[in-house]
Amino acid sequence: MKKVQDFKVLGYRRLNKDNYILTLIGEEDIPRIWPGNFAEIKVPDSPDVFLRRPISVLDADYEKKTISFYIKAVGKGTLKLGRLSVGQKVNIVYPLGNHFVVGQQQKVLIVGGGSGIAPFISLGRELKSRNIDTTFLIGARTKEDVFLTGEFARYGRVELTTEDGSMGEKGLVTDHKVFSGTFDFDKVYTCGPDPMMKAVAKIAGAKGVDCEASLENMMACGIGACLCCVSPTKEGNKLVCAEGPVFNTKDLLW
Ligand SMILES: Cc1cc2nc3c(=O)[nH]c(=O)nc-3n(C[C@H](O)[C@H](O)[C@H](O)COP(=O)(O)OP(=O)(O)OC[C@H]3O[C@@H](n4cnc5c(N)ncnc54)[C@H](O)[C@@H]3O)c2cc1C
Ligand code: FES
Repeated sequence: MKKVQDFKVLGYRRLNKDNYILTLIGEEDIPRIWPGNFAEIKVPDSPDVFLRRPISVLDADYEKKTISFYIKAVGKGTLKLGRLSVGQKVNIVYPLGNHFVVGQQQKVLIVGGGSGIAPFISLGRELKSRNIDTTFLIGARTKEDVFLTGEFARYGRVELTTEDGSMGEKGLVTDHKVFSGTFDFDKVYTCGPDPMMKAVAKIAGAKGVDCEASLENMMACGIGACLCCVSPTKEGNKLVCAEGPVFNTKDLLW
């Protein structure tokens, strides 16, 4: 059930100069959050950042009443969210959107790039709890942009690509060896830059493997009211905030 709730800043984990994990702590119970759900975060004390910012939930601890977000600072809102004081109040609307579907699959490939890795800690945990064999393929520009590999390793194998070859295989995720030779995955999940997700979806489609992608369209209201986040699908335009952000890629007009 969707909630509007005040939290307080518990602390930060700085990953590099632009990337950080923000952890908030609240007093109320946290509703069930599914892998792929996101929150609309109000940037506190910032009248110039009027709209809430959509950010995937990285993780939540229902007992400790904490919720965390992995954020890449790209503009005013995400820069300000990275500079709050411990104890400062942060209002969020959550959990929003649909989520990745976990079915009867046996061997799964998760492909993440940039801030698109955020939903995959909780998805990995869910897959492991169902004994589903999972490979995480994480792409970054350079080794300084590779994060959370220790966390992913708890839930499956981790493969890396960097564009400059400083860590893992050199190139784009789609150049990685998992895509050549035997491809025996029965489900692919992806989140990251659009061109990456489109390329991954194309390969999965060509191999006849079901693929879900979480889209990061620009959003305003986040709850289906302003119509600013639409994506074209085979069934007409769909609202990424309310009918997504996760779509089966065979339904998207990419
Ligand atoms: C469902 C969803 C989940 C998301 N999850 C995460 C997450 O877990 N971590 C994270 O760091 N980011 C995530 N994003 C992206 C994040 O919402 C944007 O980066 C953020 O809103 C930018 O706000 P800003 O004020 O910092 O930037 P602005 O000042 O508004 O814009 C700065 C630059 O960022 C670009 N930008 C703005 N919004 C987006 C967007 N949605 N996608 C890509 N580029 C954008 C703008 O074009 C501009 O170039 C998610 C987006 C969506 C829709
Ligand atoms: S962001 Fe307003 S309808 Fe999707």
